[in-house]
Amino acid sequence: MSQENNTTPDTQPDQGRRRFLNTAAFAGLAGAGLSVGLSACKQEQAAAPAATGSVAPRAAAAASSGGAGKYHLEPGELDTYYGLWSGGHTGDFRVLGLPSGRELHRVPCFVPDALVGWGHTNESKAVMGTRPDGSLKYTVGDTHHTHASYKDGNYDGRYAWINDKINSRIARIRLDYFICDKITDLPNVQGFHGIFPDKRDPVDPAINYTTRVFCGAEFHTPLPNDGRDLEAPEKYRTLFSCVDAETMEVRWQVLIDGNCDLVATSFDGKLAATNQYNTEGGYHYEGMMSAERDACLFFNIARIEQAVKDGKFRTYGDSRVPVVDGTKAANTDPATSLVCYVTVPKNPHGVNASPDGKYFICAGKLSPTATVIELTKVLDWFDGKVNDADETIVAEVELGLGPLHTAFDGRGNAYTTLFLDSQIVKWNVDAAIKFHSGDTSAQYVVDRLDVHYQPGHINASQSETMFADGKWLCVGCKFSKDRFLPVGPLHAETEQLVDISGEKMKLVADHPVRPEPHDFIIFKRELLNPKKIYSHDDFPLAITDPKDAGVYRNGNKVTVKITSLAPAFEPREFKVKRGDEVTIILTNLDRIEDLTHGFAIPKYNVNFIVNPQETASVTFKADKPGVFWCYCTHFCHALHLEMRSRMIVEA
Ligand code: CUA
Ligand code: CA
Repeated sequence: MSQENNTTPDTQPDQGRRRFLNTAAFAGLAGAGLSVGLSACKQEQAAAPAATGSVAPRAAAAASSGGAGKYHLEPGELDTYYGLWSGGHTGDFRVLGLPSGRELHRVPCFVPDALVGWGHTNESKAVMGTRPDGSLKYTVGDTHHTHASYKDGNYDGRYAWINDKINSRIARIRLDYFICDKITDLPNVQGFHGIFPDKRDPVDPAINYTTRVFCGAEFHTPLPNDGRDLEAPEKYRTLFSCVDAETMEVRWQVLIDGNCDLVATSFDGKLAATNQYNTEGGYHYEGMMSAERDACLFFNIARIEQAVKDGKFRTYGDSRVPVVDGTKAANTDPATSLVCYVTVPKNPHGVNASPDGKYFICAGKLSPTATVIELTKVLDWFDGKVNDADETIVAEVELGLGPLHTAFDGRGNAYTTLFLDSQIVKWNVDAAIKFHSGDTSAQYVVDRLDVHYQPGHINASQSETMFADGKWLCVGCKFSKDRFLPVGPLHAETEQLVDISGEKMKLVADHPVRPEPHDFIIFKRELLNPKKIYSHDDFPLAITDPKDAGVYRNGNKVTVKITSLAPAFEPREFKVKRGDEVTIILTNLDRIEDLTHGFAIPKYNVNFIVNPQETASVTFKADKPGVFWCYCTHFCHALHLEMRSRMIVEA
């Protein structure tokens, strides 16, 4: 490969590369025989200020701070926001500090993790799920969306949830310990993608916090998917699911037309929404794009739960989860409908609720538009006061090529990613509504910013709460190309930080991230109050007194109770016999913040950690005789290297 193909000269202007990427991405689509009406944006020519794409990142980085405050922190300074990030097909959940962009933590949930011992300890295996032989049910995951629990229209710091698209699982992360405590398999679905908690109860005003989590599934399959109806397209269906926030049981599902994508919920608790594509029920992408409009679906939660109570549901296969019929054909009378279908142009991607509680915005993806739907009108439709569901649309305006996701600043502006244009467009929602209603002088596009490159998700600080503060915006760019030192063919992704406190957006930092995060939320650090150490009460197996440490034999089942207190394990040696089934229970008796110990056993594939006051256990067969130094893997003390226990396996 020639040098020219391998590297991009420093002098090549950004615009040139951006144009190349656009051409490449667009050519791919055009080659697929698309006619998606990717016309130049009228508004762009009429109203957009000169593109800010020439902002040189190096020059921006030299600036110390913008209106949102400092983004470069001095040593010892703490971030002012938490960011919760999906990890994509690493299968993890990440915690970033913002505005610095520093990665603080990864919480393992769907896939094993060597640091923590996730997927190795008995406790984590119980959360992940095992096969009859004790091995993990799944070892891969693909996390796309994470959202946190609400109270009074803001995050309350209890939980976050994250999806696994590969195996259609939902995990809950406790935000006091930053650990995954439950994982639920969704029945009857494949390609579980969008996720969003409700913000209050649809009927009980006293419940002004999250009690349900909604899950959209993308891939349609025969129902039940047990080998029947393999070539019967009309039998292929997807479902929208509701999971109980506390028990993590699946409460109910809704059969729908088309494929679900993202999910959003209203602040009044009455509606959940998903943007829908593949109305056509196609197997291949050509077949998924023939219709000019797909839809945004609105679920009437109170009516669905009443239908379940009234027994108006069915089940599929082995699943006992009630499934109500939300197809368009079964919901023609608004007065009794469970679901409202509002049409949106061409394979929409992303649906987002504005922080004023008034609008849901669907981005067109294959159409250069965003559609603004007014929630009170959707409620009016369910009340029979609006004839045509499309009368709930108050704006449908052109933004640019490949609109995907939208964030908000709490000042009436929306920020939408344009995948093909590699831009963020800032637009004013009220002005867009005026423009749509005929006032062609309404200038809804406020600003455009080039990003690097091909942005997917976007989010702003506190964006989808009633307290959107309009300070910071992050954009997840799917291609980094030349933004970082090359490390071989696999590139980092670029999470770019933008100061949105002023009229014009200001790109202030690039952060490389390991592929490939999709979505994230950003909120004020005061909303979380993480615990510093564990409590023995959380662990039924805790060994609270070192005197209880030792070997307990029951036939060939042996339990070895071990405590750690820097710099020693108790007992310092123990004997088992070849052929024993050994369970090691380790309690960390240290109470000091940050004093974590590890426990590894050579040749036995054992390695896990115990944080202060935590208990964890592993079980294995002692099939190799000899001496095995169980050692502390996590630096804890000046005598860390000496912190060992001798396991003797007698032949
Ligand atoms: Cu204990 Cu290192
Ligand atoms: Ca379509």
